[in-house]
Amino acid sequence: MIRLLSVVGARPNFMKIAPIVAELKKAELRKAGLKKPELKKAKNLPAIEHCLVHSGQHYDELLSGNFFADLGLPQPDVNLQVGSGSHAVQTAEIMKRIEPVLLDFKPQMVLVVGDVNSTLAAALTAAKLGIGVAHIEAGLRSFDMTMPEEINRKLTDAVSSLLFVTEQSGVENLKREGVSPEKIFLVGNVMIDSLLQHRELASRSPLLDRLGMRRLGMPRVEMGKNGSSCRDYGVLTLHRPSNVDDPETLDGILRAVSALAADLPVFFPVHPRTRKKIESFGLQRYLARSTETSSNGTRSNGTRSNRTSSNRTSSNRTSSNRRSRAERNHAGIVPLDPLGYLDFLSLNDRARIVLTDSGGIQEETTVLGVPCLTLRENTERPATVEHGSNQVVGVDSDRILAAARSILSSPARPSQRPPLWDGNAARRIVAILREHLQHNDSA
Ligand code: UD1
Repeated sequence: MIRLLSVVGARPNFMKIAPIVAELKKAELRKAGLKKPELKKAKNLPAIEHCLVHSGQHYDELLSGNFFADLGLPQPDVNLQVGSGSHAVQTAEIMKRIEPVLLDFKPQMVLVVGDVNSTLAAALTAAKLGIGVAHIEAGLRSFDMTMPEEINRKLTDAVSSLLFVTEQSGVENLKREGVSPEKIFLVGNVMIDSLLQHRELASRSPLLDRLGMRRLGMPRVEMGKNGSSCRDYGVLTLHRPSNVDDPETLDGILRAVSALAADLPVFFPVHPRTRKKIESFGLQRYLARSTETSSNGTRSNGTRSNRTSSNRTSSNRTSSNRRSRAERNHAGIVPLDPLGYLDFLSLNDRARIVLTDSGGIQEETTVLGVPCLTLRENTERPATVEHGSNQVVGVDSDRILAAARSILSSPARPSQRPPLWDGNAARRIVAILREHLQHNDSA
């Protein structure tokens, strides 16, 4: 019996672990369904017992709970419920609370994904207990040590014994840092596994109807420029401390995007930390002003209504109100609550342009072929620029607006998938893990 323990904590972790959990389950089911001769061969494959731990770094239903449901993830076996805090407090609390879980479950390997505080805390605790660490999404580097994620990435890689990499740049970074090549595996991108698995399901999300962006049954709405059955719209996401904690930077970004919102509606699912900053810096003027409540329970001036996320899927009864609201809101950025995985995928998939400071969204838009402007000075994911639809534009207001208008006035640039971003990364990872653990078990 092999015992594996995976750790998730924050929103971008959930779609990375989901295909691994599914693959582990599939492998067991496959084994159960084998006929006699195959079974004989497979008999030597040890069973894998898997434990899923949630650190509780993200605890809001909108940042965490909805994702488990959307991705078909089982409820975590353990929730450490650490909640928010300074980086030191959060990291230390996760370490303190995960140590007894590791001592009790005794995994041969701990799987961590991405670059959030939960990733580093779990990796460090496991390494200090002498437990092997496998890092999924290893090797990415922005070379910007002011980013908390860059610190987390470098330290996690330094204590990992298996490094699963999404793109060639990651392999080169790790080799340059002296990691021995037999620990490094270029396997593709588990986030893209999730995207490809859920794209069809996401296309059935009612969100675009609720926002008045889908053309079907709405004769007043013109065809999108990209020839899609949706009206042209943009999407904005912002949460990185360097962008949202500094009033001037946040003001400049919102100024550029609200000017763009005169050309097409821009929907902005607002991260809780960003919402707080917009309010405390008094920047609500950039958001569409209306006292009406949007379909997902957010007032369009950015404040939350009493409606719960469970009544987000309201009927089409008021769709015409919403349509006219979206049209009226044209002259401002339209704030929304954070969206679940499927709703957000459906929104991005049909967008004319996405503006973001997220890492994962650069990858998702590359595969969706949607032009993406990265509102940062660097990217740790250069494959999205070399192969994909991503441009790193920085945070200067004029530059953002010029780049966005240039995208809107020209035909979409063809976007290609980086090598191995084919939906099979989890299968490769589980096969390598199995071989590695089996080998070490019998050694
Ligand atoms: C974290 C990750 C970041 C990732 C992002 C996705 C780190 C260092 N950062 O940033 O890499 O891209 O998640 O969202 O791990 N909050 C809530 N509800 C929650 C969680 C947080 O309201 O469920 C608020 C709290 O005010 C908290 C703030 O958001 O203080 C920041 O949360 P935190 O988990 O520290 O970092 P994120 O900005 O979410």
